[in-house]
Amino acid sequence: MSDRTKLTTSAGAPWVSNETSETAGPRGPVLMQDYQLIEKLAHQNRERIPERTVHAKGWGAQGTFTVTNDITKYSCAKLFSEIGKQTEVLSRWSTVAGEMGAADAERDVRGFSLKFYTEDGNWDMVGNNTPVFFVRDAYKFPDFIHTQKRHPRTNLRSPEAMFDFWGRSPECIHQVTILMSDRGIPKNPAHMNGYGSHTYSMWNADGERFWVKFHFKTLQGHKHYTNAEAEALIGKTRESYQEDLFNMIEEGNFPKWRFMIQVMPEKEAENLDFNPFDLTKVWPHKDYPLIEVGILEMNRNPDNYFQMVENAAYSPSNKVLGIGYSPDKMLQARVFSYADAHRYRLGTHYEALPANAPKCPVHHYHKDGPMRFFPAETGHPDAYYSPNQYESAAVADPAAAEPPLRINGDADRYVQEDADADYIQPRALYAEVMDDAERDRLHHNMAEAMGPCSEAVTERWLAVLGRVHPDYEAGVRKALATDGSDVNAVPVTNDSPVPTK
Ligand code: HEM
Repeated sequence: MSDRTKLTTSAGAPWVSNETSETAGPRGPVLMQDYQLIEKLAHQNRERIPERTVHAKGWGAQGTFTVTNDITKYSCAKLFSEIGKQTEVLSRWSTVAGEMGAADAERDVRGFSLKFYTEDGNWDMVGNNTPVFFVRDAYKFPDFIHTQKRHPRTNLRSPEAMFDFWGRSPECIHQVTILMSDRGIPKNPAHMNGYGSHTYSMWNADGERFWVKFHFKTLQGHKHYTNAEAEALIGKTRESYQEDLFNMIEEGNFPKWRFMIQVMPEKEAENLDFNPFDLTKVWPHKDYPLIEVGILEMNRNPDNYFQMVENAAYSPSNKVLGIGYSPDKMLQARVFSYADAHRYRLGTHYEALPANAPKCPVHHYHKDGPMRFFPAETGHPDAYYSPNQYESAAVADPAAAEPPLRINGDADRYVQEDADADYIQPRALYAEVMDDAERDRLHHNMAEAMGPCSEAVTERWLAVLGRVHPDYEAGVRKALATDGSDVNAVPVTNDSPVPTK
């Protein structure tokens, strides 16, 4: 007993009991001076922070990225500087819509977030398991998310709202087709790909910029659940991803991904027949083949989930020299949105928390505020402002300038001109990539997800499917009839005509 670690108060004083309150006599009330009881109850009341507004349910791991191919002709980022170079990574995978207690094996898009702790600061790759997204303009993002979350009156998820929104935003058909396909319920994060989805950029030591897409290809192979398998699994455990991932890593069976990029020379973007900065589109692999970069291996379970995964703050605004943005307007909005979310969810100094703190020296002039628990490393004790007279104090580095991001055009609100453009890639996915059995499962998965929607919403959505391919519309129409979905179960609230765009 005497060798055991001794309990202390949070102020470090030895503490006498963690089980017995101090009372006035054996049957008397608790004394106010039993401050440590108050401290303990107060701590319990403060154990929660707001959950993420989206992607609240997640699973994380720590690991390593190793360069296997030389891409220095595209990027001068130090993490890619030589073959064999290793960088520590913190990953977090997530579902989008469910709350923190949601079941893991639900049909949803999965988040795929990676924090690379490079010697030049943190690079956050905040992607999904799909190469495209539902919408291409940030104005639509909050409304889209509202349709994925709970209805304000029923407090239930609402297929009526989801398909109403999607039917009026046909650019989402590519992503919805992927979501309702076999890939909509991965077995666990080890069996899915990750994508940066947006077009990003890289630049090399000569200041030459390239547009790039990020791909993380699972080396475990794709594995998915059908709706029926997922339902049976959720009946047994709601935590299947956490269980699978945690156990894989504990057993030394480390999940791995091959990091690959697609590269487009900067000038080429101007002459393409599709907008390479439109998040609802992929780049054809035959024109922009995948180029290997390295291997991501997740090999350590965090010792404390809350500290490393709940406190993890990923943001597309965290980029390093050699990796940049693109004119993608969704990406531009995300650059603002995430850090704002972190300041609300975690506090002003969230970047200094262990999950987020860079592994390289940090010198900035941000000052005080809640949880300012780290010293000011400005290089001189009197240098708490800038510019200043002190030779040893931190100064901005002109060498950190990136080549100019060439963006042409007049400020305006642009809508896509070619109305058919949104249907071309989903059509190829439906008619050329999927086989009959996959298409059949897609029809039934979608019909299940649509029940119950009003007739107006159903018909409008079926018209969107018809524009992709007549068989798509016919297949879902038939599945709705045979699966017995009651299209009239919710009163018709909207009788707008089907989209003509
Ligand atoms: C304008 C569009 C978007 C906005 C405004 C937005 C905003 C947000 C916000 C506020 C969060 C919560 C952050 C937190 O509290 O930690 C979040 C999480 C997340 N978003 Fe987005 N998002 C957008 C689009 C996207 C897209 C296109 C992707 C993927 C390509 C994506 C992937 C993620 C992921 C993976 C997370 C979870 C990060 C984590 O693991 O902590 N989001 N998003």
